Amino acid sequence: MSKSEEIISLHVKYVMPTYAPGLALVKGRGAKVWDADGNAYLDFLAGIAVTNVGHCHPRLVRAIKRQAGRLMHVSNLFYNEMQPRLAQALSKRSLNGKCFFCNSGAEANEALIKLARLWGHDEGRYEIITMRNSFHGRTLATLTATGQAKVKKGFDPLPEGFALADYNDLESVRSAVTDKTVAVLVEAVQGEGGVRPARPDFIKGLAALCKRKNLLLFFDEVQCGMGRTGNWFGFQRYDVEPDAISLAKGLGGGFPIGAIVASPKLADVFQPGTHATTFGGTPLASAAGLAVLEIIEDEGLLKNATKMGDVFMEGLKKVAAKYSFIREVRGAGLMVGLVLNEPAKELETILQKHALIALATADTVIRFLPPLNVTTAEVRRAVRMVDKACAEWQTRLNNPGPDDQPARFKHLKLNKD
Ligand SMILES: Cc1ncc(COP(=O)(O)O)c(C=O)c1O
Repeated sequence: MSKSEEIISLHVKYVMPTYAPGLALVKGRGAKVWDADGNAYLDFLAGIAVTNVGHCHPRLVRAIKRQAGRLMHVSNLFYNEMQPRLAQALSKRSLNGKCFFCNSGAEANEALIKLARLWGHDEGRYEIITMRNSFHGRTLATLTATGQAKVKKGFDPLPEGFALADYNDLESVRSAVTDKTVAVLVEAVQGEGGVRPARPDFIKGLAALCKRKNLLLFFDEVQCGMGRTGNWFGFQRYDVEPDAISLAKGLGGGFPIGAIVASPKLADVFQPGTHATTFGGTPLASAAGLAVLEIIEDEGLLKNATKMGDVFMEGLKKVAAKYSFIREVRGAGLMVGLVLNEPAKELETILQKHALIALATADTVIRFLPPLNVTTAEVRRAVRMVDKACAEWQTRLNNPGPDDQPARFKHLKLNKD
């Protein structure tokens, strides 16, 4: 049994099968990861937009080690020196208001939902409009907010107070507004929904509508925030002012932390006793978040995300022109989607075989989320890998034949649906 197979069989025996993982990864550095058998891969997924400064960035590792040896956790019954510093750094780069810290994207969106309800409570307004194809998390409230039927299946009765509208369709949002509506929640780029950027006229129209109807405008920045699109936050591509945003994923660079940032209008809606979480903004998590912000700033990673995103999309467009099963290349910064005319899962597996990690999403889209410090050489290499994988897939599509996977990929079949 190989080392990968050992890990996989232990996992299958003792871990609930909420995911269907492929490779058993044991080490990472920058945009590279290694599996338990020593095979190297170019990681263009970054833990689904989490390791935005690359795996094991020495400065992030140092900050976590230093803080772990000083003070990890004290609860929010005490002030800690790192949490307000991270809150200040996030506020200054976004809404100039205040933060609430938690541990994940779902929890951050849950906080937005509670914030909206508390704000609208005295007027009897509680309904939140979200978009079809959106993704906001897996808690009961956030899966209800999510605009995809598959994540809700089997979990009814779902909480009330959510309405769906079509993304990039202002009229659809307008007609979903009722006298109970309190907020609109939107992603600047839908990630799980297939790497779909919002159109500027839609976001501008949404901001105007919210202002006119006295609705709160929230952006879910869990995936497209923290520099991913080449701006600190996705909403900044549109020249609008949200009332609050949610963050997680890339904020800790791999260390779990979530947050919301609210504008001054909502900064003091939560009061002692209204919302809380034990682990929110621990000194350790906050130190990780601060280090990530400093790395992005000091290493010019916003600019790099824009530049590398352009190089990558240009390269992918050339590849796309060669294969009839590729419909479109779309995205923003380093959030890039290869849209296919075929189910994307098989191409994801072939890409892994060619040592490139990416993720099939929304059935027919391959999503690439490389670290923001990816280099031109790595991007060009990834494009060559995509080309080779597409050529292989084209051959397979033309001549469906016996399984030709090398032994080290056999286990993928065991664990994939
Ligand atoms: C836009 C968006 N919001 C929320 C979430 C949920 O985040 P978490 O998995 O950390 O709960 C995700 C996760 O993929 C996401 O992409």
